[in-house]
Amino acid sequence: MVQWTDFERQTIQSIFGKMDYDDVGPAALSRCLIVYPWTQRYFGNFGNLSNAAAIQGNPKVAAHGKTVLQGLVLAVKNMDDIKATFTELSVLHSEKLRVDPDNFRVLADVLTIVIAAKFGASFTPEIQATWQKFMKVVVAAMGSRYF
Ligand code: HEM
Repeated sequence: MVQWTDFERQTIQSIFGKMDYDDVGPAALSRCLIVYPWTQRYFGNFGNLSNAAAIQGNPKVAAHGKTVLQGLVLAVKNMDDIKATFTELSVLHSEKLRVDPDNFRVLADVLTIVIAAKFGASFTPEIQATWQKFMKVVVAAMGSRYF
């Protein structure tokens, strides 16, 4: 089981406490779809994704970006058992959505960039290290039901 120090728990809770989900979620998903265009293939029913402006202005992308962050909130609330918390989501992405699990790391990296830009200098290397550990556990949990 993953061990978390008090500093790590407080850091993750503090980041999520300060985060504006309505801003960060859409920014992260739209950046993912623009920078890594192959990820668009899973969102064929989301309408116009033909260029960066269309993606950034697409209400379905924005709504789904918030949904992904709400998924991450579940992990924050269950830091001691993220793997079990994400069992159903992992099955969904594997068996129904058929998302290539490499894309979980891609989305995690994009989210890190968006957060670093929002938090600026306060996103210190020490805080980033904790954030990366959290996202690594999330990515592993999201991939745990792929066989
Ligand atoms: C940190 C990683 C991720 C988390 C926490 C996450 C979370 C979620 C959640 C909470 C849902 C809604 C599930 C439901 O309705 O029951 C969802 C749906 C979905 N996810 Fe993910 N996701 C992640 C990564 C990805 C990636 C990388 C892709 C593709 C590149 C992806 C594609 C989708 C698609 C296509 C849906 C269904 C959207 C719809 O039709 O409404 N997800 N995800």
